[in-house]
Amino acid sequence: MTREKPKNLWLSRWGFVLAATGSAVGLGNIWKFPYITGEYGGGAFVLMYLACILAIGIPVMMTEIAIGRRGRGSPIDAISRVVREGGGHPAWKAVGSMAMLAGFMILCFYVVVAGWAFAYTWKMLDGSLAASSVEGLAQVFEAHNANPWALGGWSVLVALLTLWIVGKGVQAGVERAFRWMMPGLAVMLLILVGYAFTSGGFDRGFAFLFSFDTSKLTGEALLAALGHAFFTLSLASGAILTYGSYIPDGQSIVRTSFMVAIIDTCVALLAGLAIFPIIFANGMDPSAGPGLIFMSLPLAFQQMPFGTAFGVLFFAMVSIAALTSAISMIEATVAYLNEKHGVSRTKAAIGSGAVLLTISLLAMLSFNVGADWKLFGTTLFDALDYLTSRWMMPLGGILMSVLAGYCLRAEIMRDELDLPPLGHALWLYMVSYVCPVLILMVFLHALGWLGFDPLQRWYWIAGGIGLLTVLGEALRPRVMPALADR
Ligand code: PHE
Repeated sequence: MTREKPKNLWLSRWGFVLAATGSAVGLGNIWKFPYITGEYGGGAFVLMYLACILAIGIPVMMTEIAIGRRGRGSPIDAISRVVREGGGHPAWKAVGSMAMLAGFMILCFYVVVAGWAFAYTWKMLDGSLAASSVEGLAQVFEAHNANPWALGGWSVLVALLTLWIVGKGVQAGVERAFRWMMPGLAVMLLILVGYAFTSGGFDRGFAFLFSFDTSKLTGEALLAALGHAFFTLSLASGAILTYGSYIPDGQSIVRTSFMVAIIDTCVALLAGLAIFPIIFANGMDPSAGPGLIFMSLPLAFQQMPFGTAFGVLFFAMVSIAALTSAISMIEATVAYLNEKHGVSRTKAAIGSGAVLLTISLLAMLSFNVGADWKLFGTTLFDALDYLTSRWMMPLGGILMSVLAGYCLRAEIMRDELDLPPLGHALWLYMVSYVCPVLILMVFLHALGWLGFDPLQRWYWIAGGIGLLTVLGEALRPRVMPALADR
């Protein structure tokens, strides 16, 4: 079979890097990373998160982009084509369906959080955050959430904007928006870190992020760190795979993956360095939960020169960063409906938008009238986040690794990744042994089937990887055709 011809390509050489960074950098970096770091106690979590990015996130990202580019289409279509070409059961396309579903589910709660960022841009402008104390800001956040009309209105606005842009086609919009937004956001974060440096809490903030206590290295925190690595890099959710399908042949997948992961990680660490000093300087609790940045950053804006203007710009940038991520979550679904069922992009956006609006409004109600409606013991908002980040994305990651590491003919990934032999062997080692064992152990522990904490007994992980390596290397060439020529 010949290689698929691309239908849509990024407009410029930097198109993919811009769009994939636009997808990766978002509320995950600025809202979620600080708040879960706070909940899991700081440095130990950060260390596990960095390890997951390096050992799992980057290899899986390379794999996804390669599959997207080889199969040229939505996750379902791209995987189907790649297994047809490279050997593998057609059922593998279910991984694509799960990824698309995960992306869609994330979007359903993401629009609510993005709505917070939009609302706070407005609140900075109209002065409702001025002269508030720590308690005052907590009350503003609670009052905003208690009002379903305000919360729902902002969520609907975000959803409509997202659908409008996706309906028009992502290439032009996303590439253009991102070109000036990313440097802008980076400059703002640097200024905030500069302010944090003088806030009197920098030492404590820094120590909180970068020094760790081994007792906090637990399997539970590892599950959160693993899930966050997938979330922040937009993996196993259809986003990166679909964007990857628009990359021209010949552009280096490996270089771009590293670039996206490095920029994404730097933004998260900068956000942490900006936020935690402010939290400590104002005597706040770092484990305050999802409202953390909305209750802390306005304090800094009050105290700094030109704070209001700066605050407006900052929340506006965060809103745009959220929008460029939101767009990527639904792109896979729209691409799928467009390609497979011949529906126009606009109609696909309207159709999926109707479902999105319904579920996201229900998720929004988790903060007010629906606070008692429980799904698996949590609110719909939390359930959507928990199911996707902790389960669906890491599961998608294992499956994608197994597909590339064991089932596809070797030349496919070799062509796409185009790595020198040692680099290729390292990638193959990561996806064949390290990713599956690590993710599986974390899952087994979370299900309560492991009976011990994999991090407190790390030698089980090392042993598991070692055993699989020996077995795999001995058996693979015989049982799996794909591996004979590695
Ligand atoms: N990576 C995005 C963020 O950090 C979230 C995201 C998840 C985007 C999944 C696309 C797909 O905000």
